[in-house]
Amino acid sequence: MEGFNEKEGQLYVDDLPVSEIANNYSTPAFIYSASEIRNNFNKYTGALRKGDLICYAVKANSNIHILKELVDLGSGFDVVSGNELKRCIQAGADPKKIIFSGVAKSSEDLELAINEGIFSINIESEDEFDRVCNISQNLNKEVQCAIRINPDIPTGSHKYIETGLKTSKFGVGSETLQNISSKAKDKPLIKISGIACHIGSQISDNSLIIKSLEHLLDAQKLLIKDEHKLEFLDIGGGLGITYKEETPGNPESLILEILNKISALDLNIILEPGRSITGTAGILVSKVEYLKLTEHKNFAIIDAGMNDLMRPALYDAWHTVKEVKKRDLDKKIYELVGPVCESSDVLAKERELSISQGDFIAFMDAGAYGSVMSSNYNSRLKVPEILVNGSSAKLIKRRESFEDLIALETNL
Ligand SMILES: Cc1ncc(COP(=O)(O)O)c(C=O)c1O
Repeated sequence: MEGFNEKEGQLYVDDLPVSEIANNYSTPAFIYSASEIRNNFNKYTGALRKGDLICYAVKANSNIHILKELVDLGSGFDVVSGNELKRCIQAGADPKKIIFSGVAKSSEDLELAINEGIFSINIESEDEFDRVCNISQNLNKEVQCAIRINPDIPTGSHKYIETGLKTSKFGVGSETLQNISSKAKDKPLIKISGIACHIGSQISDNSLIIKSLEHLLDAQKLLIKDEHKLEFLDIGGGLGITYKEETPGNPESLILEILNKISALDLNIILEPGRSITGTAGILVSKVEYLKLTEHKNFAIIDAGMNDLMRPALYDAWHTVKEVKKRDLDKKIYELVGPVCESSDVLAKERELSISQGDFIAFMDAGAYGSVMSSNYNSRLKVPEILVNGSSAKLIKRRESFEDLIALETNL
């Protein structure tokens, strides 16, 4: 089953009309398709061998119900904070399938990760390595680690989602790699078992990821010289999706190519996909509040804003917009703007739509980096999330209330 389809002029999610869900739960709301998540995940697993692992990047969409769907599919997880780790545990994930990335891991978060016995801490600096050594010694616990390298590979995607350039804060260069490798020889509690890399997001060209694999293999040789017993290569995430006209590479052919390149080595592989698992599995549904036709532009003023879906304002990103129910109205070109008092609150430009006041529209491909990036700017309430599985819809996050909004503010 495809997650989102049009049938008889209506947009459906799995077997349910989106209009029915929007009427039941009101708008704006994120709606997810469980079947689309499953399909996307399964594109990764077909070619994997025993011991290889997909660690879904929780940052893309961290709702615990979404994580639970992925736990049930056998997924591992890539987390970038102690709270993402707690979400995974709450969702029933096996700590032995969790890796911890990120440049600023706090002592508290590292203690949590070490006490949970997660699969790997992916180290991003020499200072971090020293901190991990101290904590493991204090706790007297063995820790399995990977070192994240920075291969200096441009991906050509938006500069805010490039992570593998030498000017990026992520990963380490060859000198630091060597320093960490030498230091680790004298640390009996630290097991350097892997090398990791993640060069960026929304990558359309698999060959860039293969290029980063070459760097992992060079780093592997260096670590072997220091007698570290390497067990895995973590190739990161980054495969893109089609928002507009992009033609991203296919996960299975990427994995086959990786396996082909490492066939002579006794190493497992890990991938950390986020966007390519949940991106196409979600939409943001919104209602047209007003149509404001001016001599310069036609504005469709909608009830969702840049605080709900930040990607267009942050990255100038494109989300296809669909009418939830086709209507027999004149088409017009609209700029879709939200209620936030900022001129950057534009969710889509120059879209030809047949809409009138009160109609629902859907921003497609909003399942990754959508809800997780939302904010309360302008005291707007965070919107609900609904997960559809076949013909059943489940509220997996309720709409925030005014009381929730001010709950952390101390009494007057
Ligand atoms: C370390 C790491 N792994 C995986 C991902 C997931 O990337 P994507 O959602 O593009 O697959 C990210 C996102 O930037 C990341 O920083």
